[in-house]
Amino acid sequence: MKGLILAGGTGSRLRPITHTSAKQLVPIANKPILFYGIEHMAAAGIKRIGIVVGVDAAAEEIVQTVGDGSQFGVEVTYIRQDAPLGLAHCVLIARDFLGDDDFVMYLGDNMLQQDLRTFVESFEAQRNRQPSLHEDDVRPPAAQILLAHVDDPRQFGVAALDPGGDVVQLVEKPKDPPSDLALVGVYLFDRHIHDAVRAIQPSWRGELEITDAIQWLLDHGHRVVHEVLQGWWIDTGKKDPLLHCNRLVVDTLERRVDGVVDERSRVDGRVVVEAGARLENSVVRGPAIIGAGTRLVDTYVGPYTSIGSNCELVDAEIEHSVVLSDSRIVGVHRIHDSLLGREVEVVKSDVRPRAIRLMLGDHSRAELE
Ligand code: TTP
Repeated sequence: MKGLILAGGTGSRLRPITHTSAKQLVPIANKPILFYGIEHMAAAGIKRIGIVVGVDAAAEEIVQTVGDGSQFGVEVTYIRQDAPLGLAHCVLIARDFLGDDDFVMYLGDNMLQQDLRTFVESFEAQRNRQPSLHEDDVRPPAAQILLAHVDDPRQFGVAALDPGGDVVQLVEKPKDPPSDLALVGVYLFDRHIHDAVRAIQPSWRGELEITDAIQWLLDHGHRVVHEVLQGWWIDTGKKDPLLHCNRLVVDTLERRVDGVVDERSRVDGRVVVEAGARLENSVVRGPAIIGAGTRLVDTYVGPYTSIGSNCELVDAEIEHSVVLSDSRIVGVHRIHDSLLGREVEVVKSDVRPRAIRLMLGDHSRAELE
């Protein structure tokens, strides 16, 4: 079994962060989103992982950060995608890497609470089992999809199942959903998917859709089975789901204070203060994480906040937010529900006339009080 992680794409919904950086490297609890996916694969016993990346600076950043995979105990091969032509296109260009092996495909900006082991094991068990004579359907599955119960299936790819639980049809954003089971960004395939991705045509949005490839498998007599997801699943490709995901993950942190907390500071609850961080007359109320080399002075960091490394917060109040490394917040109170990139400055100014002075990159968004 091999792994295929998709970490190319446009990332338009997370601009301006994705103008300069890969969305899969945005940290959740100060660890890049992509690392969680690689760790899930490693924990499921998958040692050979292909990572699909683009051909831009974001791709280089991924290669630099993940390296050859040895830090995770896996072997990583990079597969270059010239343009984001769809999830099924990723399978098409990964043909040489994948060979005829079974593989698990994982969207690099998705986060799951559940580990992949049971999902992978159930596929392998179904493929290797000896069917009994009394069974109606003795074909081994060519694919297994992960499904989640959702409140509004009309926004998702939705699966229709037969009474035995096999998938009979996939419908994209149906007006009249056949079930409340939406496709989660994790798929298991055998070699037949290569025939499917070669056979399908681009959709109206110009992409080779993985749902069309799976539908092709169904239409050509292959069996597609499913598992229902346990726990949460988040597509972190937009700000608010990303903050929600950060909230869920920091909530699982164990308290660890390796940095310096002066006698006028307080650290309440499940808080990680990394080595080299320094709190001066500040309060951190967990769950929260403060990165290495970050300095807090006269500052309050409230629950569900991740502050990256080498930041400086002076006379600031921040809560339910993610701040990437090397940023500065000075004299600004009550920042909530915010995502700040690297080397960002948010500072109070006494220069007259009193006014809001902004220098925001393309596609930035500022919500003022
Ligand atoms: P999406 O989030 O669906 O696509 P996107 O990255 O283009 O985002 P946006 O809609 O905001 O512009 O992609 C899911 C994952 O798959 C993500 O990690 C990017 C990756 N991907 C590829 O690697 N190649 C592709 O061709 C596409 C469409 C996505």
